Amino acid sequence: MAIREIRKEGDPILRKECKPVKEMTDRTRELIGDMFDTMYEAEGVGLAGPQVGILKRIFVVDVGGEEPAPFVFINPEIIEMSGEQTGSEGCLSVPGYQGEVTRAEHVKIRALDENMEEFELEADGFFARAIQHEEDHLHGTLYIDKVNGELTDLSKMYDEEEEE
Ligand code: NI
Repeated sequence: MAIREIRKEGDPILRKECKPVKEMTDRTRELIGDMFDTMYEAEGVGLAGPQVGILKRIFVVDVGGEEPAPFVFINPEIIEMSGEQTGSEGCLSVPGYQGEVTRAEHVKIRALDENMEEFELEADGFFARAIQHEEDHLHGTLYIDKVNGELTDLSKMYDEEEEE
């Protein structure tokens, strides 16, 4: 397993539509392992294929806490969305920023696991937010496209605190 380079905003690959995974191969298994390694190393809670330059419908999520984790979602489809939540979001492809995004409070998702077996899962709150954020990546959408108001530049925030 290995740490892969995380693509940053401005890289056109982040704006492309991903293709479904047809079968599990050694190469795809290795990719999934690398995606977890890369996500943990960067201290993220989710990572999608395009973020490591691979246009496949795969993302990984580990929000920690009480949620069962870690999760890999292959060829995912969000089949139900309900409610609404607004909260702060960041992305490993947009380092140093965060912004407020409104999303569904609850989602039901259908996907394949690493053995290409179908499962369904229901998620609420932060877990549901992470799933929606990662699923967007598979369609070339970044949270900055959906942000309410302006992005917060975290480096400026820390500078201000230091000046006080
Ligand atoms: Ni992201």
